[in-house]
Amino acid sequence: MEIVVAKSAGFCFGVKRAMNMASTCSDKAAGEIYTLGPIIHNPQVVKRLEEESRIFSRESVDEIESGTVIVRSHGVRLEEFETAEKKGINIVDATCPFVKKTQEMVALLKKEGYAVVVVGDKEHPEVRGIVSYGGSDITVVNSSEEVADMPRRKKIGIVAQTTQSIDKLEDIVSACLHKASEIKVFNTICNATSVRQKESMDLAGTVDCMIVVGGKNSANTRRLAEICRAIKPATYHIEVADELDEGWIKGASRVGITAGASTPDWIIGEVVARVGALAEPPGPKNL
Ligand code: F3S
Repeated sequence: MEIVVAKSAGFCFGVKRAMNMASTCSDKAAGEIYTLGPIIHNPQVVKRLEEESRIFSRESVDEIESGTVIVRSHGVRLEEFETAEKKGINIVDATCPFVKKTQEMVALLKKEGYAVVVVGDKEHPEVRGIVSYGGSDITVVNSSEEVADMPRRKKIGIVAQTTQSIDKLEDIVSACLHKASEIKVFNTICNATSVRQKESMDLAGTVDCMIVVGGKNSANTRRLAEICRAIKPATYHIEVADELDEGWIKGASRVGITAGASTPDWIIGEVVARVGALAEPPGPKNL
């Protein structure tokens, strides 16, 4: 059996940067170190950080009185930043520069008088953070159908959650054309996501079975699994190697593996090794 690992599988630039910042912080910072919510959507990494680097996840800045707070790659709400500053908590801002840019675009559009539309999942912390930079009256939509309920506006400014698909952004922009005479769009979709999605789709089309590795709570990993499943119905989303079912790869001559932006190399390595152990090697090779 041939095992092919997508070249872009695993940590993206922003997550790698946040993890490096967390590691430096753990070496240098005195006192307790926290993240607001898990630093990345991967339970195994969060557990390791707690055990080995004494970095603990808290849901809100209200639960922290002193020490250091690491702002994770998808950012936090502006109010949380301000509260941490007021409390004199040391802030290490590991917000991905692409997310930061999206937050700035929202503030700019608002300042220029646009009714701001954010394309994304309104419950996702990245979106909650982005929205907070526009103050009030920001609309979050996740489909072109939701645009139908929006009132007509003079001018609409649009940004997207960094992990959204370009197709969805296009659909929503088209729908917004019927809602305002002036539309300004910033394509804030992160290139890392589209490259990973494209590579994974291409790979899914050439294999008998596709394994997508990453947190079940990771939006970008779930989306990756959806995209791969549309091409290859035999697609399975797992968090760790132990979840692999021998029946999935039975009879397969080529198995593809990809992983979300918050999946570390060591977990991908364990999955590759487990697939290899369940079948006959030749072992992994890059695309
Ligand atoms: Fe940043 Fe893109 Fe990763 S926005 S956190 S590099 S998926």
